[in-house]
Amino acid sequence: MKGIVLAGGKGTRLHPLTKVTNKHLLPVGLEPMIFHPVRQLVGAGIQDILIITSTEHMGEIVRLLGSGKDFGARFTYRVQEEALGIADALALGEDFAGDRPITVLLGDNIFTHSIAGFVDRFLAQGRGARVLLKSVDQPSRYGVAALDEKQVIEIEEKPERPKSPYAVVGAYCYDPQVWDILRTMGLSPRGEYEITSVNNRYIQLGELAYDIVEGGWTDAGTFESLAEANAMMLACGNRITGLALEGKTR
Ligand code: G1P
Repeated sequence: MKGIVLAGGKGTRLHPLTKVTNKHLLPVGLEPMIFHPVRQLVGAGIQDILIITSTEHMGEIVRLLGSGKDFGARFTYRVQEEALGIADALALGEDFAGDRPITVLLGDNIFTHSIAGFVDRFLAQGRGARVLLKSVDQPSRYGVAALDEKQVIEIEEKPERPKSPYAVVGAYCYDPQVWDILRTMGLSPRGEYEITSVNNRYIQLGELAYDIVEGGWTDAGTFESLAEANAMMLACGNRITGLALEGKTR
C-alpha cells in the first residue's frame, strides 16, 4: 500500500490568507495543515508517501516536510503544473504507485480519528475502491452520495439538490485500475478533472464500497471550515484517536 497526499490548488476560497502561501501550510491547531494527512497515513501503516503540490509552493512544502524521516515516512514529491482538479493531480501518481493499491488523502481534510480501519477494510475487500462518507449540514458543498440499503448508487459533485446528507470526504482507496480510469476522464463543467467521476466509474463497475467516518471530520478550505478544523485539533492537541499502526508497515 502506498499513500498520496494532494496539496495543490489555488486556495482561492481563503484569499488573502493564501495569496502568498499554500493552504496546506496554514496552521490547524498546533501544526501546519499538511502534517495531518501525513500523520494519518503513517498511522494507518503507510510510510511510502507521494506529496503532490503546485510549482509555486513546492519549495516551502519540501522545506517543511523534508525527506519524511521526522515522520517515520519516505516522501516523494511531484509538481502539478496547472490547477486542473483532484483527478488530474492524482494521475501524476501512476509511476510512484506501480502495481500497488493506494490511499489518497486531500491535504485539507481533518479527522479526529484514525483512518486505519477504513484502509484495513479496503485491503480486505481485495479490489475496487472504497470511500468514506459523513453526514453533513451543507452537503451541496461536497461530492454527495446517493445510497440504497447496501451501496452507493451515484455520487454528484456539489449538487444544488443533494439526494442525501452524505458528503464523500477526501479519503479514497483505489486498486491499480484507477490509472486506466483516470485516462478516460473528461473535464467537468467547472473545468476540472473530478475525483467524483473516478468514483462513479467504480460504481458502474460494481466495485465501490464505503464506510461512515468515525468521529469528527471537516475540510479546511473555507474560513468557516478552517476555524472548525482549528477548534477540532486544538481540542485534542493534534492527537488523532486510534493511531494503532504507527511504526508498523502494510
Ligand atoms: C473536493 C471533492 C469533493 C469532496 C471534497 C472533500 O471538493 O471534489 O467531492 O467532497 O473535496 O473535502 P473541493 O473542496 O476541492 O471543492
